[in-house]
Amino acid sequence: MGSRTRRDFLKLCATSTPALILASQNSVHASANNLSRTPALIDRFIDPLPFPKRLRPHSTHGGKAEYRVQMLESSKRFHSQLPPTRFWGFEGQYPGPTFDVVAGQPITVKWENRLPRRHLFAVDPHIHGAMPPIPTVRTVPHLHGSRTPSESDGLPEKWFAPGESARYFYPNEQQAATLWYHDHAVGITRLNVYAGLSGFFLLRDDRETRLNLPAGEYEIPLLLQDRTLDDRGQLVYCPAFEDGTIAPPGVWAPEFFGDLPIVNGAIYPFLAVEPRPYRLRVLNGSNSRFFNLYLNLAKSPTDIPALVSFHQIGTDGGFLPSPVSLTTLLLGPAERADLVVDFSAFNGKTLTLSNNAAAPYPGWNLMHHHAPLPELMQFRVTRPLSITGRAHSIPQSIALPGLDPGTAVTIRDFVLTEQMDAQGRSRGVRINAKGYDDPVTEQVTLGSSEKWRFINMTDDAHPMHLHLVQFRIVERQGFDATSRAGAVRLTGNPRPPQPNEAGWKDTAVVYPGEVLTILVKFEGYAGRYVFHCHMLEHEDNDMMRPYEIIA
Ligand code: C2O
Ligand code: CU
Ligand code: CU
Repeated sequence: MGSRTRRDFLKLCATSTPALILASQNSVHASANNLSRTPALIDRFIDPLPFPKRLRPHSTHGGKAEYRVQMLESSKRFHSQLPPTRFWGFEGQYPGPTFDVVAGQPITVKWENRLPRRHLFAVDPHIHGAMPPIPTVRTVPHLHGSRTPSESDGLPEKWFAPGESARYFYPNEQQAATLWYHDHAVGITRLNVYAGLSGFFLLRDDRETRLNLPAGEYEIPLLLQDRTLDDRGQLVYCPAFEDGTIAPPGVWAPEFFGDLPIVNGAIYPFLAVEPRPYRLRVLNGSNSRFFNLYLNLAKSPTDIPALVSFHQIGTDGGFLPSPVSLTTLLLGPAERADLVVDFSAFNGKTLTLSNNAAAPYPGWNLMHHHAPLPELMQFRVTRPLSITGRAHSIPQSIALPGLDPGTAVTIRDFVLTEQMDAQGRSRGVRINAKGYDDPVTEQVTLGSSEKWRFINMTDDAHPMHLHLVQFRIVERQGFDATSRAGAVRLTGNPRPPQPNEAGWKDTAVVYPGEVLTILVKFEGYAGRYVFHCHMLEHEDNDMMRPYEIIA
């Protein structure tokens, strides 16, 4: 987006909300600083990549670590040429501090909402669960990808208001994985996460230690997000309708695409690395944006890309059965990839982490595209190889327990649709024509295996996520879109999952015009859980449903 169109675009955004008037008063200092620029004019790759801080336990009771995490409003510079930006963060940090915990060692976390009573963004009061008189500021943290009892899962309706808190228990009884935590409050998850409420939760185990992967300063978490800032450097939440029109302030629209990439809370950062292998834990924490990532040796984004291959060793819920060599990596919102990138052959070179995913994804409707984010950050192989740096290799193969599709007797179908108004604008998205508040229709027996089929009747891809479980992708297949829900006629041949999806997943993409079949074993706990699309705009209105596990 050029600076002129960008300005027009921002004018359409929520620049008249009270939060932003306040923000402009706050930034008087910053604009006196002659380093300050508008976001459209900042230099790329001048700031080092920040690392989230590691969270330390607050106390230990009976050998069980207890953490305390406060949600706070704070501000920091997202880029050295921009004034400080107000945000909401766990412990006042964005990204939130990283939990670094060991499988088999349960922890408790006291989550405290210490946010102000006024939201950073205008709230749409017509969205389910966000209607007055309930407080506009409310939060509930969810540990995404974890096997957690229902009471500690962070169900959307279990929100708490400023001044309130909740104590959650995380058993950590699952294999090593890149999990993450984020807000999940009903009707405003998109706004709370956009404000900054997300962070990593790294679960480790002995098997991982034995793999001898790059660790310490050679293990890099990367939280990828997109944001839009106004000319004073403050966050703007301005979602769009499918035709590209920006919604008025406080009105829900089906997608949000920011025009700036932000990695670990920094815009266009760089990381100086040694010529050696690194482990990258990549999380797409965007509201709506998919990333199709690649490492590019070319100097400018308009040059012919020179791709560098890398290995993916793990996915959402743990290690893959064997490393997969890739040159591009697709990540929908909430998906994670555990990568090993070997910079050994690139001494003195610069690799740009690049993206060519259409927005919305996959962008079959070529009429209405949003600003692409072709570049995210740079790796510069400029540091000398440290002598202490040990040689690391990628793991050869890791046994993955088989999951027999034959054991799944129950098959459930979920039809994804979008509801349009007379002007052809989205009024919301649904699962089987139901919203979150409709009574539970899915009751699953604890310990049983089922096939769930997501049938996508919309024009966009949706990253579908289930709480509590890690599942396996069985296949994807086309269907006859003229067939009625309930009698879906499959067409073409089923496609097995991509090699880098052939492991434990908690979020999986269903493409337009396709059926995604997953195999789920419902292990862990009885109780109420949810499943939903992880595009946060969709999750809020209203592509989310409860489900119940019966003992
Ligand atoms: Cu990432 Cu329902 O969650
Ligand atoms: Cu989740
Ligand atoms: Cu969706």
